[in-house]
Amino acid sequence: MAGTNYRTTYSRSLEQREDFWLEASRAVDWSREPAAALDDSAAPLFRWFPEATLNTAYNALDRHVEAGRGDQDALIYDSAMLGIKRSFTYAELTALVARFAGVLRSQGVGKGDRVVIYMPMIPEAAIAMLATARLGAVHSVVFGGFAPKELAARIDDAGPAVIVTASGGIEPSRRVEYLPAVAEALALSSAGALPVIVKGREGFATALSDFPDWLDWDQAMERAVPAAPVEVAATDPLYILYTSGTTGTPKGVVRDNGGHAVALSWTMANIYDIGPGDVMWTASDVGWVVGHSYIVYGPLLAGATTLLYEGKPVGTPDAGAFWRVVQDHKVNVLFTAPTALRAIRKADPEAAELARYDISSLRTLFAAGERLDTETYRWAGSVLDVPVVDHWWQTETGWAICANPRGLEDLPFKPGSPTVPMPGFALSIVDGSGAPVEQGEEGNIVLGLPLPPGTLTTLWHNDDRYVSSYLAAFEGSYATGDSGYQDADGYVFVMGRTDDIINVAGHRLSTGAIEQVIASHPAVAECAVIGVADPLKGQRASAYVVLKAGVVADEGELARELVALVRKNIGPVADFKHATVVQALPKTRSGKILRKTMRQIADGDEYVVPSTIEDPEVIAQLLGVLRPEGAA
Ligand code: COA
Ligand code: AMP
Repeated sequence: MAGTNYRTTYSRSLEQREDFWLEASRAVDWSREPAAALDDSAAPLFRWFPEATLNTAYNALDRHVEAGRGDQDALIYDSAMLGIKRSFTYAELTALVARFAGVLRSQGVGKGDRVVIYMPMIPEAAIAMLATARLGAVHSVVFGGFAPKELAARIDDAGPAVIVTASGGIEPSRRVEYLPAVAEALALSSAGALPVIVKGREGFATALSDFPDWLDWDQAMERAVPAAPVEVAATDPLYILYTSGTTGTPKGVVRDNGGHAVALSWTMANIYDIGPGDVMWTASDVGWVVGHSYIVYGPLLAGATTLLYEGKPVGTPDAGAFWRVVQDHKVNVLFTAPTALRAIRKADPEAAELARYDISSLRTLFAAGERLDTETYRWAGSVLDVPVVDHWWQTETGWAICANPRGLEDLPFKPGSPTVPMPGFALSIVDGSGAPVEQGEEGNIVLGLPLPPGTLTTLWHNDDRYVSSYLAAFEGSYATGDSGYQDADGYVFVMGRTDDIINVAGHRLSTGAIEQVIASHPAVAECAVIGVADPLKGQRASAYVVLKAGVVADEGELARELVALVRKNIGPVADFKHATVVQALPKTRSGKILRKTMRQIADGDEYVVPSTIEDPEVIAQLLGVLRPEGAA
C-alpha cells in the first residue's frame, strides 16, 4: 500500500481541496493574494484562484534576485552541436528577459496578445517565452521539427501579434533553415505581414538581409528599454501549446498563470525534490510540454538552475553525451524520454561510456513521454544506480497525473507503473459506459472534475471543442484517452491510447492527420495509418493504402512520394517511412476501418477479426502484409 504521507496528502487534496491548494499557493508571490482556490461557477469549465493576480516571469526571475540569489545560475546552455557552454545568473537572465520584453512591447505586444515562438534549443527560446509572460502576453511555442504548413495552422489559430524565430536549428545530419519556413508559413496563413524577430546564428544559408522587414534580435536588444512585469489575473492565459488531436487540426491547450505557478511549484518540491541551488536537466525541447514545464518554468519558479541542452542522446558525439553533461554541470535530477534511454542502451549496452564520467551529483532519473518499458527501467537503474521514476502525463495536464513523489515520500517502485495519482487527480478506471471496472481490470483512465491547478483550462477560443473532446464521453470526468488498470495498492499501469494518437520517439502524433495527408495523393483511394511497435522509438507510423481503381503505380515510387508528402505537410518529426499498398482495408459492415485489429496483427498480439468482415481474402492479404511470418 502507498505510504501514509502520500495517502494523507492525496486524500486531503480531494477532500479539503480549498485548503490544500490555498496552502500550496503560498509558494508563489502574488500581487493580490488568492482568497479562494476554485471558481466552479462556469462548470464544467473551472478556474483556479479567481480574483488573485501575479506575474509568472516575476516569480520565475526577479523575486529570486530580490531574495539575494542574483548571482546564482538560473540557466545553463550546453550545446553538444557547437561545443558551447554558457551560463546566465538570475540577475543576468532577469535583465535579458526584461530587455526582450521591451523589444516585444516596441512591436506592439501587450497583455493578452499572442507571440508565436519557433526556435531551436538556444537560450533565446526561453528568454522569448519569459519575456512574453513578463508582458502578460501569451506565447505559443512551435517545435522546430514541424513543417511550414503546421506552423501556419498554429499562426492562424493563435492570431499572434509577433513571431520570434532564429536562423535555424542544428540536427546531426543537417542545418534546418527556419527563415524560409517562417516565410512560407506566413504566406500559407491568413495572418498577413507580421513583425518577425530573428536571432541570427552562424552557418545558415538564408540571411536575415533576405527579409528586409524582419528585425534582428541583437540590434533590437541594444535599442530596447527594459519592461517591468505586468500584473495579470491568475486566470489569464500564460501560453497556448498545440498538440495532436484525433483530427488533422491541432488542439490549442490553454494554460493559465496562477494555477500553473502553484502546481509547478508543488511538483518541484514534492515530485522532483528540487529546491534553490539544485540543478535540473530536462533533456527535451521547449516545443513540448515537458520543456515548458521543466526546462523553463518549474526549475525557475523553484529558484533552481535549469539546463538547456542542444544535442542528442547519441551521436553528439557518442552515447556518453548525457553523462558528460551530468558531470560538467553537476546535474542533480535528469528528466528524459524512454526512447532516449533506449537509444543510449542500444549504442552502449554495457555503459562503457558512463565509466568515463563522474555522475555522483545525480540523485534521480525521471522518465515520461511514453511508457517506460521494464527492460529499459531495469537497465537505467542498474547502470546509473539511482532511483528511476516513470511518471505519466500529457500536454493537457501540464504536470504528472501519476508519479512517485520523491520529495514527499519514498514509495516502493513497481516496474511498468508510473506509481500513484498525484494530488487533485481523482483517477478512476471505467468501462465504455462510464461504470467502474473491477480492480486490476483494464479500462479507460478518467479523471473526476475539477482537474487540479496547472491543467488545461480550455482549448484556445474553443470551449465547445474542449468539452466535446475531453468532457463529453464520461459525465463529470475528463477522458485521458489512455487505458490502463490500478492494482490493489493503488498503483496505476498505463497501457496505451484508446484513440488514434501514437507516440513516436516520445513525440505525439495523430494518425488521422497523417492519413489526411496521404489521402490527398492522387493515386490513393483510401488509407489507414497505424502505430506499429518499434524497439527504439516505441512506435512508428505505418500506412496501408488502397489505390484508386485503374491506377497502376510503382509501389516503391509511390511509397517515396507519400513519405515526401508527409514530411512536407507535417514535418520530419512524423518520422514517417513506411507505406504499403493493399487490395482493401478491413472494415466493419458500417465502413469503419479496423485499425486496432491491424495494429494487433502487426504487433503479433492476440486479435479477433470481427464477424462483420465478409471478405476473408482481405484479412488473408493483410496478414501477409502486416505480419508476413504470421501468414505463413
Ligand atoms: N527540428 C528539425 N528537425 C528535427 C528536430 C527539430 N527540432 N528534431 C528532430 N528532427 C528531425 C530529425 O532530424 C529526423 O530527421 P531525418 O528524418 O531527416 O533524419 C526526424 O526529425 C526524426 O527525428 P527523431 O525522432 O529525433 O529521430 P532520430 O533517429 O534522429 O533520433 C532519438 C532518435 C531517440 C535519439 C531521438 O528521437 C530523441 O532524442 N528522442 C527523445 C525525444 C524527446 O526528448 N522527446 C520529448 C518528450 S518528453
Ligand atoms: P504528450 O501530450 O505529448 O505528453 O503525450 C501524452 C501521451 O503520452 C499520454 O496520453 C500517454 O499516452 C503517453 N505517455 C506519456 N507519459 C507516459 C508514461 N509515463 N507512461 C505511459 N504513457 C505515457
